[in-house]
Amino acid sequence: MKNLISISDLSVKDIKKIFNVTKQIKQKQRSNKSYTPLKGKTLGMIFGKASTRTRVSFEVGMFQLGGHALFLSASDLQLKRGETIVDTAKTLSRYLDGIMIRTYSHKDIVNMAKYATIPVINGLSDMLHPCQVLADLYTILEKKQILKGLKIVYIGDGDNVANSWAYGASKLGLQLVLCTPKKYEPNKEVIKEAKKISLSTGANIILSGDPSSAVKDADIVYTDIWISMGKESELKTRLKVFKPYQVNGKLLEKAKNNAMVMHCLPAHRGEEITNEVMDSSKFIGFDQAENRLHLQKAILVLLMG
Ligand code: CP
Ligand code: NVA
Repeated sequence: MKNLISISDLSVKDIKKIFNVTKQIKQKQRSNKSYTPLKGKTLGMIFGKASTRTRVSFEVGMFQLGGHALFLSASDLQLKRGETIVDTAKTLSRYLDGIMIRTYSHKDIVNMAKYATIPVINGLSDMLHPCQVLADLYTILEKKQILKGLKIVYIGDGDNVANSWAYGASKLGLQLVLCTPKKYEPNKEVIKEAKKISLSTGANIILSGDPSSAVKDADIVYTDIWISMGKESELKTRLKVFKPYQVNGKLLEKAKNNAMVMHCLPAHRGEEITNEVMDSSKFIGFDQAENRLHLQKAILVLLMG
C-alpha cells in the first residue's frame, strides 16, 4: 500500500490489515494509552470542497498520532491560479510526509498520487469516497461481528459513496443491493469492474430501482444525501426524482427487525432520511463518523509510519 485512492487497489489482506490496526488503535485510545508513531510527520490536507468529518478526523488523528496536520484550502493555493496538480504534487512532496486531498475530479487525485513521492489519500472525489466506506465496513463488522452473508442495501443516489460501496462489497465477497432511480445509477465502469472482481470473491452486486423489494429482509440499510457537493443546480429535479427513495419508518418495516441504518453524513433530515429513523436506536451514523477517526489513523500509520 503506497496510497489510498480506491478500495479497488487494495487486496483483501490490505483491508484486513487496516481493520486489525484500526481495532488496536481504537482500543489504545479507549484506554487512554498514548501512541505517537507519527512524531515529527506532517500531513497536508487539501480541501476543494466543504467538510466536517473528514477534516476534523484527519486533523485530530494526526495530532493523536504525534504528528501535525496542515489545512490547505484549494482556493488559497496556487492551484486556484493555474499551477498544475503535477507541480503542486512535486512541491508538496518536498515539505510533507503525506497528502490527503478532497476534490471534484477524481483524475486530479490520481495525478497527485502519480507525481507525489509521498503517500496520497483520497478524502473524497466525485467518483469515490474510500475512507468512508472502509470505516462503514469496519462499523458493520464491529456491530454484527460478520460481513459475509449480510444483506446490505444502499438506497438513493448512485454517487461517490455508492461507487466505493460497490468496490468494498466486491472485494470482500459481500451481498450488496444498490437501489437508485433510473439515470442515477452508480458509475457504469465502477460496476463493471466490481462485477468482475465479484467473480473471484463470490460477491453479489445487484442493481435495483425498487426500494420496497430491495430493502426486503435487509440487515443494513444505507443512504446518502440526494444532492452531493457540486450537484446543487439539480436540486429541484433531484428532490422530486428521489422522493420514493426516502429511508423512513414505513420502508424499514420491510427490513429485518434488527436492521441497522447507516448514513455517511451530513444528512438532510426530511429528505433522504426522516427524523424518526435518524433519532431511533437503529441509526448508527454517528458510530460510523467516530470510526472515521480510528480507521484513518490506521491508514495514516500504515502509509506514513
Ligand atoms: N462523511 C463525510 O465525508 O463527511 P464530511 O463531508 O463532513 O467530511
Ligand atoms: N455524496 C456526498 C458525500 C458527502 C460526504 C457528496 O459528495 O457530497
